[in-house]
Amino acid sequence: MELNQNNVAAAEALMDYERDRKGPPADFPKLPDIPGGRYVNRDFLELERERMWKRAWLYAGHVDQIPRPGSWFVTRNTGSPIIIARDLKGEVRAYYNTCQHRGAPLVKEDAGESRGFICGYHGWSYTLEGKLTAVRDIRDFTDLDFACRSLASVRCELLGGMIFINEDPDAEPLVDHLGPMVKELEQYKLETLRLVDSRRYEVDCNVKVLLDAFLEVYHLKSIHQQTVDRFLDHRGMFITLWPKGHSRMITPNRRPDWRDPGTIGMPKIPGVTDIPANNNVSYHLYPNFVMPASDTGIPILQFWPLGDKKCEVVSSWIAPDHDPENPDPMWATRIGNWERILYEDLQFAPQIQESLESKGFKGMPLNYQERRIYHWHEELDRRIGLNEVPPELRVEQVLSDQIATA
Ligand code: FES
Ligand SMILES: [Fe+2]
Repeated sequence: MELNQNNVAAAEALMDYERDRKGPPADFPKLPDIPGGRYVNRDFLELERERMWKRAWLYAGHVDQIPRPGSWFVTRNTGSPIIIARDLKGEVRAYYNTCQHRGAPLVKEDAGESRGFICGYHGWSYTLEGKLTAVRDIRDFTDLDFACRSLASVRCELLGGMIFINEDPDAEPLVDHLGPMVKELEQYKLETLRLVDSRRYEVDCNVKVLLDAFLEVYHLKSIHQQTVDRFLDHRGMFITLWPKGHSRMITPNRRPDWRDPGTIGMPKIPGVTDIPANNNVSYHLYPNFVMPASDTGIPILQFWPLGDKKCEVVSSWIAPDHDPENPDPMWATRIGNWERILYEDLQFAPQIQESLESKGFKGMPLNYQERRIYHWHEELDRRIGLNEVPPELRVEQVLSDQIATA
């Protein structure tokens, strides 16, 4: 479904259509069950890791974490130790925290500031651009070519102030990869938003168990009865599936004039259109980044596999006119409320994992409302290679006619 962000009437018509329909649209395909093995089968999860996670654009952090030339932090979320640094010219760079001599780490802390890196093992020195500049006892090496011994770089590109990395050197540019979403995101002026908060939660389940919960609103009436369900009308929700696994879900407020009381009076991003200002618009950047944008601040959630049955959720907030030295006192309550909702979403995850591993679970019949989850799985098979997924674990590609191009 294509939707111009300024066309409120079109959005309302779509919401009315969704509220009133008696079943899925006539052209919507029947979704085959998602095989349960996709959440637990070790060989499959290994394929998922190598073919998808290791080649995906993944959010690593925010430019506010590296405010000055020479600031850096380390991320291990992709499964490899990667330094994100701001070089002396102010450019953001990423490379493995891996000395090119014998692999010792260049930095041992999680964040810091320096004019370059000196390996703690034998003292090789590198610039912030990753160039090798000095080697102790150089006389004892034969023909050591400094030019070939730079730190191994990782692809690193920005979306506003958000830093994305990709371990695949041949990955297409981030903006091309995100496609039609990029234009729509311009209204949020992401480059002006400041990092307000970031916290992590470890959960004992496969990463997809949690991610799935953030791709649908079918669960609002059960687990968010006292929170989100009070103000969002999940039956009016409509979805746009974009190429490459990305998607958007717009859920109307129950009352068009409803405002979260915890945000009234907070600074607003100028120019945000009425649809995100008056509804819940949640973007999903494949594979693991979920962003329900609003005009007073944007929570960003990432879901990281820490193993086959352990994952981490990182929940951060970016917002306009935030002063880290003097934060708006409303943030403490706002983040507290958000955390309460998150805990509601996390509550069943370890038991779902237990079920997925039992003989009691065979597969998932997904409904029309849950089609973003199916879209996610279809994309995973495309990235793995359709014929390389074991036949009993494949998902049939049935949504291609449902994918919007703008
Ligand atoms: S491992 Fe870094 S200098 Fe030897
Ligand atoms: Fe939820």
